[in-house]
Amino acid sequence: MDWGMRNRLARVIKPQTGRTVMLAIDHGYFQGPTTGLEQPAGTISPLVPYADALMLTRGVLRTSVDPGADVPIVLRVSGGSSILKELSNEDITTSMEEAIRLNVAAVTLSIFVGAEHEKQTLVSLSKLVNEGERYGIPVLAVTAVGREMARDARYLGLACRIAAELGAHFVKTYYCEDFEQVVGGCPVPLVMAGGKKIEELEALKLSYNAIQEGASGVDMGRTIFQSEHPTAMIQAVRAVVHENAKPEEAFDLFNSLAGAKSGV
Ligand code: 5RP
Repeated sequence: MDWGMRNRLARVIKPQTGRTVMLAIDHGYFQGPTTGLEQPAGTISPLVPYADALMLTRGVLRTSVDPGADVPIVLRVSGGSSILKELSNEDITTSMEEAIRLNVAAVTLSIFVGAEHEKQTLVSLSKLVNEGERYGIPVLAVTAVGREMARDARYLGLACRIAAELGAHFVKTYYCEDFEQVVGGCPVPLVMAGGKKIEELEALKLSYNAIQEGASGVDMGRTIFQSEHPTAMIQAVRAVVHENAKPEEAFDLFNSLAGAKSGV
């Protein structure tokens, strides 16, 4: 890995802890105005100081993030399908030239292992890695899970390993039972995906387990920005990820920050 690639990766996965708290706000690229992101700028700006990186599309980056913000960008460069159609039918939608112009730290796309358009998404990953290697831009592969697919260690382990073998520099996947097997079979850093909004303590427990079982951080969206207290939640997640806080300790932090904010 050359210096530029390593430097960009270190902007996302912080060398001080070897971990990251990424904020995922790319939902609109296939599901439109997701709850909490109808007007992205207002949701994003209070969270930026606590995010190690933002994962988003060029459209939201251009329109809704202050160019003066000191936050690394992981740019989603895949798309082409919507929730109304077959989700795996994605292609690369944003060029590497554009990613460089936007000064991103990394690019990302989804792979759909076992889905109808599996090959198309795996070839896209490979092509993106070829370009990333040329320009020193790391590639994050997201192991998207189709509607009928099991989120178990066998399936997620397969998807993560394929992503790493095709050259992804880091991988995002869901937490599951025997998660350490998924981490163990993946030779590149792995960040835990969030998923649908769940209770704060539950999300902190999941994050804690993932970190203790070897994840290099989390990349969460709805669990943070759909919380009643998003800035409190992201700070609680940071405590788990960067300070090894126990879930209950982090939940206490969440409650005290949330209480302070609402004047309770
Ligand atoms: C889609 C993604 C999105 O970034 C992800 O869905 C957003 O995060 P969350 O599910 O935590 O709201 O990777 O495959």
